[in-house]
Amino acid sequence: MALKSKDLLGMKQLTSDEIMEILDTAKTMKMVITSGNKKTSHLQGKAVITLFYENSTRTRTSFEMASKYMGSSSANISSSGSSVAKGESLLDTVRTLDAMGTDIIIMRHNQSGAPHSIANKINASVVNAGDGMNEHPTQALLDMLTMYERFDTFEGKKIAICGDCYHSRVVRSNAIGLAKLGAEVSVYGPRTMMPIGIEQMGVRVADSVADCVKDADAVMGLRVQLERQNSALFPSVAEYSKFYAITPEMLQLAKPDAFLMHPGPCNHGVELPTAVYDCDQSVINEQVTNGVAVRMAVLYLLMARRNNL
Ligand code: CP
Repeated sequence: MALKSKDLLGMKQLTSDEIMEILDTAKTMKMVITSGNKKTSHLQGKAVITLFYENSTRTRTSFEMASKYMGSSSANISSSGSSVAKGESLLDTVRTLDAMGTDIIIMRHNQSGAPHSIANKINASVVNAGDGMNEHPTQALLDMLTMYERFDTFEGKKIAICGDCYHSRVVRSNAIGLAKLGAEVSVYGPRTMMPIGIEQMGVRVADSVADCVKDADAVMGLRVQLERQNSALFPSVAEYSKFYAITPEMLQLAKPDAFLMHPGPCNHGVELPTAVYDCDQSVINEQVTNGVAVRMAVLYLLMARRNNL
């Protein structure tokens, strides 16, 4: 199997069959990374570059490790340490990397649509590692893998997502992907942090944290993106944590076997108290492990398409 498109730009473009293909491939890749010998030859002789215009720990490092585990030559570029800082345009930058024979460019950018704007102008495959407030498809895929390891089916499963939905590319990608697989997504956060028309993505907007998490199979907290706040969207951190945090009491309203997720990084004491971050139901560190497996699967399936052309 291979992906239909040359690029992975968002969950919007993936069919439900492609999502399941990525998740099944990631399960196999997870066996590699949890084994004593983290090596495959799937990307041998290939070149992978990460190009990050925004900070990252999880996404960037996991893509880097995924490509190295699979035997590729890899390089990492950030805007501050490259000719981007001299004013080189995004298009000139990616054309330069393309001319070096790069097979896959993994890109994070602060502008929504930035990866889409360059994907059809270069030969390399482009993977969206987060574009502004639009999408973060590989985060949604790793979240879905974490659920898939616990669910026999996504159909009818209740997923609660609480926090700063307005700035969250994670909520958008999860909403789109989970709807394609038949899950029921409820969201909650301050009204000022809820995108107008989010219901059109197939989600229910809840009335409170309690209403959102009640009987949920999985509960996800979202980071308050303090770096993107250019106006006072909530009165204070104390008020936010009082009315919008997922507390131990709130988590108890979910199903007894529900699990707690967070894409990270977390503002401890804001969207989650540390007691919840570290509780027995938390699978946050497993999400990180699954991030490497999903990114290996995405690189493998994109390269399979390139090899088949
Ligand atoms: N979840 C996520 O995208 O984290 P990073 O910003 O650390 O990559």
